[in-house]
Amino acid sequence: MKRENEPRLFGIFGYPLSHTLSPAMQEAAFSRLGLKAFYLAFEFNPSEFTRALRGLGHFLLDGFNVTVPYKEKVIPFLDRLSPEAKAVGAVNTVYREGRKWVGTNTDIYGFLTALRRAGFNPKNKKVLMLGAGGAARAAVYGLASQGASEIRIANRRPERARKTARDFQIFFPKAAFTILPLSDERLKNSLKEMDLVVNATSVGLAPGDPVLVSKGLIPKATRRKRILFFDLIYSRRTSFLKAARSRGHKTLGGLTMLLYQGANALELWTGRKAPVDVMRRTLIQSLKAEGNSIGTEKFKKWTRR
Ligand SMILES: NC(=O)c1ccc[n+]([C@@H]2O[C@H](COP(=O)([O-])OP(=O)(O)OC[C@H]3O[C@@H](n4cnc5c(N)ncnc54)[C@H](OP(=O)(O)O)[C@@H]3O)[C@@H](O)[C@H]2O)c1
Repeated sequence: MKRENEPRLFGIFGYPLSHTLSPAMQEAAFSRLGLKAFYLAFEFNPSEFTRALRGLGHFLLDGFNVTVPYKEKVIPFLDRLSPEAKAVGAVNTVYREGRKWVGTNTDIYGFLTALRRAGFNPKNKKVLMLGAGGAARAAVYGLASQGASEIRIANRRPERARKTARDFQIFFPKAAFTILPLSDERLKNSLKEMDLVVNATSVGLAPGDPVLVSKGLIPKATRRKRILFFDLIYSRRTSFLKAARSRGHKTLGGLTMLLYQGANALELWTGRKAPVDVMRRTLIQSLKAEGNSIGTEKFKKWTRR
């Protein structure tokens, strides 16, 4: 157990981790709250991660985040999961409860808060989810819990889409879950009917990535129908969002989600209200320092209190 005046230690586990903005964002928040606390990036390969987590009982950490590829792998090492993390099957935030380690999923809160900030209410809406990995499952859980009426899931490996649909249909019997292939024709037909389209795949992270939804598949926006296209990727302006925008639709990048999942994690660790303004300013500054100014104007608008 730590003494009262000892610094508190937090961190993130992932592989690779070179792109993470979380240390800067969290340390700026600790500093604003007057906390003596640090947040470190642990870029551990799979065997280093397993070795480290076997020693969880002796960790000096007070809490931590987990990112790709460890959001599922961390689960067997924890004492308890929140109901959301259990349903999603992925953990991105771990906190202490006495001597126990509890895993939860603040991506759900981050995703839903980003939608709310963009003026989108999922109730009775139709959604196309591209992807069936950890982030997609968190987003599907969030959407269904907020009353989305129909969720179509398209994934490269269709069995993962089927599993996601099956798992959540049990939790949310009122929503209609269907799966569809990632084929141009089927996507084109679906896109016309959607209120929200989410890219929860990692396609678009790298500059040379293939185009997941080409411009030609997206119907032109009309005065009565504008779809919201949400890409969870936050490090670049993706071709997915560029195509949607060029057809007149609304777009949302992943930065707002990143901010609010982090704010939620900080509140669980410290019991204090997250200084969201400081965190968002730090994200913008960190991206600018990397020569990246993706969508920060909209991000500023949607995250201003
Ligand atoms: N903004 C935020 O706060 C936030 C939070 C979490 C995640 N994210 C972003 O969300 C994305 C997904 O993360 P995750 O944690 O869900 O990762 P994940 O569990 O590894 O899932 C990756 C997804 O991408 C698909 N995919 C990968 N390569 C593909 C390709 N070449 N063609 C088609 N589909 C492909 C996978 O399909 P298969 O199932 O067929 O492999 C799977 O659906 C990442 O870009 C991540 O940065 C953002």
